[in-house]
Amino acid sequence: MDKILVHGGRRLRGTVKISGSKNSALPILAATLLTKEPCTISRVPDLSDIHYMLTILSELGCEVERASGMVQIRAEKVKTHAPYDIVRKMRASVCILGPLLGREHRATVSLPGGCVIGDRPIDLHLRGFEALGASVKVSNGNVMILAPKLTGATISLRSTFGSTVLGTGNVMMAAVLADGQTIIDGAAEEPEVVDLANFLIAMGAKIDGAGTRRITIEGVKELHGAKHEVIPDRIEAGTFLVAGAISGDEVTVSRVNPEHLLAVTSPLREAGFHITVNGNKVSVSPGPKRRALKLDTIPYPGFPTDMQAQMCALLATTDGISVVSEHVFPNRFMHVAELKRMGANIDLQGPTAVITGVPKLSGAPVMASDLRASAALVLAGLQADGVTEVNRVYHIDRGYESIDEKLNELGAEIERVKA
Ligand code: EPZ
Repeated sequence: MDKILVHGGRRLRGTVKISGSKNSALPILAATLLTKEPCTISRVPDLSDIHYMLTILSELGCEVERASGMVQIRAEKVKTHAPYDIVRKMRASVCILGPLLGREHRATVSLPGGCVIGDRPIDLHLRGFEALGASVKVSNGNVMILAPKLTGATISLRSTFGSTVLGTGNVMMAAVLADGQTIIDGAAEEPEVVDLANFLIAMGAKIDGAGTRRITIEGVKELHGAKHEVIPDRIEAGTFLVAGAISGDEVTVSRVNPEHLLAVTSPLREAGFHITVNGNKVSVSPGPKRRALKLDTIPYPGFPTDMQAQMCALLATTDGISVVSEHVFPNRFMHVAELKRMGANIDLQGPTAVITGVPKLSGAPVMASDLRASAALVLAGLQADGVTEVNRVYHIDRGYESIDEKLNELGAEIERVKA
């Protein structure tokens, strides 16, 4: 397994081009199952999770062609049973259920396992499918869904932890070809849900309200092929802005949508950094004094759970006491033990991390766990004395396109050691 060596203490400066969004591309690639005609998706990032999704689509019978960031998919004939050995590698595979149900009225996918950020149920997805007239059976670790007929319905996707992003996408993809009107109440408002809705509309779907808690869908008879460019990855952009905050003179992320970044740039301003916006560029630079923060992760447009680990790395060396609470994935603190190995002073109290800033972290061998925690360890290494060795780097490659090369272009000194 590859590992990454981060030599601490280098100052970052410059501009980094942000890739297309992983969390937008994955459901959009799955949505191409809804038509027999070819679809062309551009700005698809080169990530292992994308590779898994394209492999699953090929296994289902799709013709898949990829040329750099452009993917062409044609789902003329599709099977409805996704192979366990690939699906188990990526929870997001669950988003093929909706389009298979919408198009073939049946789907069999292995249940996504838990993962290091906690139990990852799909009960809300299944509730939505059943409301549309599907029967759901779970056996031998597979979920089998059958719907002789799909009829529009009013569905609530509200849950203890807010809404469900992939669940909203899945129900949308099952409802676009159902008979009649579907109302999704308590829908996720993430930009990735809006991007998926825009692609479905380009295919001929009738969808209103994407980006709000209430989405209305009028079922149509069929969908046609379409072309679509994926939105910028707001979490990759946020990660680089935090890298700049941790060890930058001035770092700029380009080809972004600044509005999608407000939930990250606002806390960075509150933490004492200068943020400037210029068209599709956002820059971060040091302010006169850094301040500790109280942060709560909540669904969009709130502070994103996918940025929580990265902010912990920044707050670890911010003078004062910061309090970070996870309301989406209460167990998403695998990075805390590793940051403490680097000298961070963090006290975990259930879903809350109380962080007492220390002047400096020290490099150490650390273990990556989920993709955002891994990125946080690389960021922590940027500011640490000595070398930080981040193991199990495959986690990072799932969600970041060449993060080491992009950071080195900003002035970091990071080596990737092939195992
Ligand atoms: C998406 O996952 C993202 N992944 C995650 O990003 C992100 O952390 C998450 O949304 C929240 O923003 C992709 O888009 C591929 P959820 P998703 O369903 O849709 C509970 C990353 O780092 N829940 O919105 O799977 C669930 O347990 C990844 O890029 C149910 O209870 O997450 C969680 O507590 C990690 N029942 C909360 O809702 C369900 O049926 C939010 O989960 C579904 C979810």
